[in-house]
Amino acid sequence: MPRAEELVFPRRERFEDRRKEGQQRKLLDEFFDHATLLAISRLAGQGLFDAIDFPISSGKEGGVFRAHKGTELRAVKIYRISNTTFRRLPAYALEELRRESSVRNFGGLIVGWTRREHTILGRLDEAGVRVPKPLGHFRNVLVMEFIGDEQGAAPRLKDALVPDPAALYEDLVREFGAMIRRAKLVHGDLSPYNTLYHENRVVVIDVAQAIGSSHPEARRLLERDIGNFARYLTRLGHPVEPEEFLAAVGGDEVGPTAKE
Ligand SMILES: Nc1ncnc2c1ncn2[C@@H]1O[C@H](COP(=O)(O)OP(=O)(O)O)[C@@H](O)[C@H]1O
Ligand SMILES: [Mg+2]
Repeated sequence: MPRAEELVFPRRERFEDRRKEGQQRKLLDEFFDHATLLAISRLAGQGLFDAIDFPISSGKEGGVFRAHKGTELRAVKIYRISNTTFRRLPAYALEELRRESSVRNFGGLIVGWTRREHTILGRLDEAGVRVPKPLGHFRNVLVMEFIGDEQGAAPRLKDALVPDPAALYEDLVREFGAMIRRAKLVHGDLSPYNTLYHENRVVVIDVAQAIGSSHPEARRLLERDIGNFARYLTRLGHPVEPEEFLAAVGGDEVGPTAKE
């Protein structure tokens, strides 16, 4: 297996920018504990990436890092194995995870959560929904397609400049509609934070809490998220009625009587 220390931030800035160096060391301490480093070197050994280049985002539950494999870019999401992460996972999805796996301790459930995100990305990708393609996972580490280019990661929809809000609406209807009608899934946390904007199209991310469209919570979650998106589109200058949006994405097919 490759030596883990050489796999994370290998091109560390040295004396030019001490503050950046300090930040990187802090991230190394926070995310790359011994077990996570082993997972990283195992995934690198499987050929999923050559090295982890720098952080894209770091939050309470985990961080997302840019990595590369030859000239190809990759994204690596690392969940923190901690009680805080565990407590932030939504109860309805955690319940499903418990049903699917025999693990009970929170470490095992976070590993299961990582696998779940990988599986759901695969299901959405197969259904033709634009998501980062899942490439592999091990323990609390998920490797996926990088959305963006050499200049950086694609912005979240929340931060993006949208030249044509009407076209964005059409695109959202297409993506959310495919999620419901073809993948038979409801995302559960759809928002302009969990949607990237790349080459004038949306890419849906952060899918681990998605549930089947016949789940008892599915309708409520979908209505909430569509309501928020309708307000967001209205602010952008493209007023949309939540009912119209909901119908357009196949909301009628969501609920306890839905066929999965
Ligand atoms: N595949 C990806 N390509 C590029 N950037 C990504 C990718 N996945 C996530 N990101 C970035 O990382 C951030 C956090 O990812 P997300 O999956 O939403 O994790 P969480 O919200 O649980 O921290 C996103 O807002 C986005 O900026
Ligand atoms: Mg997110």
